[in-house]
Amino acid sequence: MHPLLEKDHQQLIDLIEVLDKCVLDGNSVSQVTKHLDAFVTLAQDEFKNEERLMETYNYPDLVEHKKEHASLLEQLRSVHSKLIHGHTPFGEDYMHWLRNWLETHLLDADDRLEKFLYQINADGHKS
Ligand SMILES: [Fe+2]
Ligand SMILES: [Fe+2]
Repeated sequence: MHPLLEKDHQQLIDLIEVLDKCVLDGNSVSQVTKHLDAFVTLAQDEFKNEERLMETYNYPDLVEHKKEHASLLEQLRSVHSKLIHGHTPFGEDYMHWLRNWLETHLLDADDRLEKFLYQINADGHKS
């Protein structure tokens, strides 16, 4: 994994694990919401960092990649709002979807971005 993306990605994966455990253990809505909030905040920051890198290095798939980020955040916000209003259970199905989304994004869109960054030798010192 490219060093510019590695730390953020690992944090997202770690938080998924925490959230997953919280759901499996049948924790309260407020507990689940707390971890979901943390995940959304982290995802927002990570997406912003990535988008900044893509802009800095004129990444050709920037628009498409940004759309994937925006779509996930929109879905997360919608579930979050349903959750706090008691309209939806946040269960294993949803965790499965979230994990799937993250894995697919990391292995596809982010992987392509990483290869691009390696190709152009982006080392994080350029801005
Ligand atoms: Fe990413
Ligand atoms: Fe991404």
